[in-house]
Amino acid sequence: MGSSSMIKLLFTLAIVVLTSFLPRNPVAVPIKRSDPDRTYVYIYNELDLGPTLTVHCWSKDDDLGEQDLPPKFSWEFSFGLDFLGRTRFVCTFKWDDEVHKFPIYVQSRDDYDCLKCNWTISQAGPCRWKSASESVCYHWEDGAKTFN
Ligand SMILES: *[C@@H]1O[C@H](CO)[C@@H](O)[C@H](O)[C@H]1NC(C)=O
Repeated sequence: MGSSSMIKLLFTLAIVVLTSFLPRNPVAVPIKRSDPDRTYVYIYNELDLGPTLTVHCWSKDDDLGEQDLPPKFSWEFSFGLDFLGRTRFVCTFKWDDEVHKFPIYVQSRDDYDCLKCNWTISQAGPCRWKSASESVCYHWEDGAKTFN
């Protein structure tokens, strides 16, 4: 075998080996990285009888816009914490003819409790689950001031 056909063979082998490591269907397998320096809030629509939940969250600096969550769907957002401990996101939750308000992230309440804060929204109010068997539920804060 001449050296040029040897190079061709090695090149072909290299291509075969390299392509075998490529994901088969990169579009169908989105890789979701989560950044350890950010805090994540996940909101799940667990309303009874399946209405769409419209969530609108904001902080002093960001307005995250309205999100429509079909039954059993979730939406998430993430943020870096304020070093003075004042990070606060408030949301309204709308379905059918109801509108409720709740501060979904309050740094002084949640900072030591969750980096991934998973909330289920049902008619009774928001609950954050801490593990498969433990969750903490809150009342709506419809009358509360937005920030204080
Ligand atoms: C919250 O949800 C995220 C994303 O699904 C998951 O990685 C995390 O473990 C959950 N946290 C708890 C306490 O179940």
